[in-house]
Amino acid sequence: MEITNIMEYEAIAKQKLPKMAFDYYASGAEDQWTLAENRNAFSRILFRPRILIDVSKIDMATTVLGFKISMPIMIAPTAMQKMAHPEGEYATARAASAAGTIMTLSSWATSSVEEVASTGPGIRFFQLYVYKDRNVVAQLVRRAERAGFKAIALTVDTPRLGRREADIKNRFNLPPFLTLKNFEGLDLGKMDKADDSGLASYVAGQIDRTLSWKDVEWLQTITKLPILVKGVLTAEDARLSIQSGAAGIIVSNHGARQLDYSPSTIMALEEVVKAAQGRVPVFLDGGVRRGTDVFKALALGASGIFIGRPVVFALASEGEAGVRKILQILREEFELAMALSGCRSLKEITRAHIVTDWDLPRNRLAPRL
Ligand code: FNR
Repeated sequence: MEITNIMEYEAIAKQKLPKMAFDYYASGAEDQWTLAENRNAFSRILFRPRILIDVSKIDMATTVLGFKISMPIMIAPTAMQKMAHPEGEYATARAASAAGTIMTLSSWATSSVEEVASTGPGIRFFQLYVYKDRNVVAQLVRRAERAGFKAIALTVDTPRLGRREADIKNRFNLPPFLTLKNFEGLDLGKMDKADDSGLASYVAGQIDRTLSWKDVEWLQTITKLPILVKGVLTAEDARLSIQSGAAGIIVSNHGARQLDYSPSTIMALEEVVKAAQGRVPVFLDGGVRRGTDVFKALALGASGIFIGRPVVFALASEGEAGVRKILQILREEFELAMALSGCRSLKEITRAHIVTDWDLPRNRLAPRL
């Protein structure tokens, strides 16, 4: 069957993967309200397309933290990609590099920072979970730096793991043939068997719940790499991120896997963008599945977006070719959305090209602007 949109890989992945792996990739927290809302909210934003503009040439290139990429579509960190495909993170790294865009490698990858670096050139960010043992963190950040990673995405929404009921039912654990490669030498590469989700127990045992704003400053004492704060949903935390020295903000609810009934990221975005006042770039992840979604995020002030689940589903279905394919499809859809709304470059995409349901005064669940 020919794939015509990136969502179609989910059904193929479901057929191919063991239930425990598919459920881990697909699910969200508790009622999964936010999971559905991350998608639904995009459908409450409509276009105000402009016509009769020469759109024979469309330029989607941009720079992120000074790095030139071919399009504002990047890859979010998703853990344990070798559960999806034997080549896992290698395949993702190669596909991102071929598409001229950025891959973010998860702390909990099943390939190490050095292994991913050895796949060849490419602009890569490293996602960091802060362990209780700060020596572990310092070592890992140093290794990421040496392996040529260009920024740290510090995940701040996970002092504890959200309740993902499928993982609890499945007693989720890493398959025995895989390890969290970055931690292998530190004896932290495996999760113990647990009576609920093995990952939730691992987080409870290893991840530092005391993490606070002063640690964002501490991180800057151990690395020169720019820090993106990943998991901001409010104006207040956008301001604190900037005060703490963040080089950028990622509006994220962790793919709806942490606090259920958090707002969709596309609804939280504008509040954060306004608070940032252009001092640092603001990015978004969560529910981006169409080129029109990318356009909407940029119209609301995002400098770029990241995709999570589509990558693991494409990997499970077709490996590197699948990841290349979703990046290509999103690119083409985004280019078409630009053309059909009369925008030739990213800077021509404005707030006036869309209308949202919170632009209408009768809507009481509007984000605070
Ligand atoms: C994630 N996400 C995530 N985030 C992070 O900071 N570190 C991680 O290791 C992971 N791992 C992970 C695994 C899986 C299977 C998923 C689905 C998500 C969250 C991820 O970076 C991103 O925020 C969301 O996936 C974006 O939403 P979509 O595109 O999946 O809707």
